[in-house]
Formats: sequence, structure tokens, C-alpha cells
Amino acid sequence: MIKILVIHGPNLNLLGKREPEIYGKITIEDINKKLKEAAKKRKVTLEIFQSNHEGEIVDKIGKAKNKYSTLLINPAAYTHTSVAIRDAILAIGVPTVEVHLSNIYAREDFRHNSLIASVVKGQISGFGVDSYLYGLDAAINLAKK
Ligand code: DQA
Repeated sequence: MIKILVIHGPNLNLLGKREPEIYGKITIEDINKKLKEAAKKRKVTLEIFQSNHEGEIVDKIGKAKNKYSTLLINPAAYTHTSVAIRDAILAIGVPTVEVHLSNIYAREDFRHNSLIASVVKGQISGFGVDSYLYGLDAAINLAKK
């Protein structure tokens, strides 16, 4: 059975109210519902985790080896700052897909650099909730390899 860990980083719990001109009106509950529906159709199991705390995300990734087939992560602001999350992904060696709702390359300069991108299998950025859904399919295909 394919089991995928979805990680939402900081402030994604505020989606719906947070900068709607960038992220739209979709809430994290809406995203999770769509992910769960897609996972059910594809007969894979999902665990979904959100945290605003870097250390909690590092702990969660650190325990993921041998528990999950692949990881799907939106590291949010930690994308641009977190050596610790990057190192945790490297340490466990579980294939990981990075996703972003917005196109981080079309925004402020500081968002153009992802510390995570070079340790994941690939990145999907700019398609709103579809970034997660494309990312889920990528994570499933990786798990099958
Ligand atoms: C984000 C992009 C990040 O730059 C930002 O800090 C976020 C959300 C996205 O999904 O578009 O919190 O990861």
C-alpha cells in the first residue's frame, strides 16, 4: 500500500483569509479534502500534517523513513530559509515532491531561491490547489518506481 505524507508549512493554516489576491479563497481544509478525494480514487493512503514550527516539521520528516513511500511538501516560507528542513529530507532519503500554490519565480526576489529544490525529486509551483494535485500524482508515480 502506497502511503504518502503531506506536509503544509507555516501560515498555510490561514489560507482563505491570507493574501487572497495571491493564494485565492481556498482554505487548507478545501485543499485537504481535494487531496483525500484524489487519494481515495487512486487507492493510496495519505497522512496530512501542518505546522508553523520549523522544529516540528524537522521532527516529522525525521520519523518518516520506512513509514511513508514518498513525501509531498509545501514548506511555505521555510522554502527560502530552512537548512534544517533541507537536511532532514536529505537524511531520510525518502523521495519528495515540493509544491507551491503561487509561482515563486514570479514574486519577490527572495522567493526565487528554494533551499529545498535541490534535494527533492522535483518542484511544482504556480498552479494553486492543482500544484498539490499534480504533486500527489508525481508522489504516487515515484512510489511505484
Ligand atoms: C508558498 C510560497 C512561499 O514563498 C510563501 O512563503 C508561502 C506559500 C506557496 O505555496 O505559494 O507561505 O509556499
